[in-house]
Amino acid sequence: MNIDELKSVASAIVAQQKGILAADESGPTIKKRFDAIKLECTEESRRRYREILLTTEGVEPYIGGVILYDETLRQSCAEGTPFAELLTRRGIIPGIKVDGGAKPLALHAGEKITEGLDGLRDRLQEYRQLGARFAKWRGVIEINESDIPSTSAIQANAHALARYAALCQEVGIVPIVEPEVLMDGSHNIERCEAVTSQVLEIVFAELDAQRVAFEGMLLKPNMVIAGMKCAQQADVQQVAEATMRCLARYVPAAVPGIVFLSGGQSAQDATAHLNAMNQLGAHPWPVSFSYGRALQAPVLMAWKGLEQNVAEAQKTFFRRCQLNGLARLGKYDSAMEGASP
Ligand code: 13P
Repeated sequence: MNIDELKSVASAIVAQQKGILAADESGPTIKKRFDAIKLECTEESRRRYREILLTTEGVEPYIGGVILYDETLRQSCAEGTPFAELLTRRGIIPGIKVDGGAKPLALHAGEKITEGLDGLRDRLQEYRQLGARFAKWRGVIEINESDIPSTSAIQANAHALARYAALCQEVGIVPIVEPEVLMDGSHNIERCEAVTSQVLEIVFAELDAQRVAFEGMLLKPNMVIAGMKCAQQADVQQVAEATMRCLARYVPAAVPGIVFLSGGQSAQDATAHLNAMNQLGAHPWPVSFSYGRALQAPVLMAWKGLEQNVAEAQKTFFRRCQLNGLARLGKYDSAMEGASP
């Protein structure tokens, strides 16, 4: 492990106004996204869609890294340049989702464990050869009215995240550690804060136990937010304060960056929350984004799978990147929505 290289890759991804585009939807997930715009999901339609995102001009100041899916890392632009090479040439660091998805955890009805550790060392070596310099593994933690999440499910997911992160660092790949507390459900923001606190405490203990260098990783957490079905939704300021309070308590200052997932929030909410967190003042780490849906949902709506809409789709993508880049500095204002750049 070359810790200096890991540190410099992690810091470059979140430098200045930069964050991450999560474009690593698995086959079934991208099909769901294409179904919503009535587009057939084929290898070529997936390639074309990713090409539209990755060739959008002018996003370099706002996008430090892109998380790709296995298939996409092996695909190329129509003119032949592999996507990883295109990104690297643009100064954007290619990353790769390496987990095998969340499956039911045995003897834990309603809870999940992320699979994919077997053979991971070899896969990571291949991904590095293909140009990936960072990786992602997502653990999923559900919340219900009573006994979920169990401590044992949190521990199992934290252990898997730590084993994955150690393997990444061994081969010189920066691990993004993503313990996602889901925002489905009717729990209030206080319960989300309590569960997120417990999850982060256990995740960092496991990372430490597996000898993961905090300086050579990125954390991708959920924001502390009320469940989608909760009658009492917290406002932007409450989300920002609760999230930063929780992270300040449980995330070591040595971590080079926080890159939030959007988790089903609207594009505008995800940007407003990030902005409010950065307006709270200096934090121990850069506070940035690694959004999937919050960057892509408006792009898919603009594109609809039609070539004549590509320019509009790219304009939409550029604008969301730019607004999140402003939120990264605490300089976004919701009045900017809809206005031209
Ligand atoms: P969302 O921003 O859509 O939650 O996706 C981010 C991600 O990569 C989830 O693993």
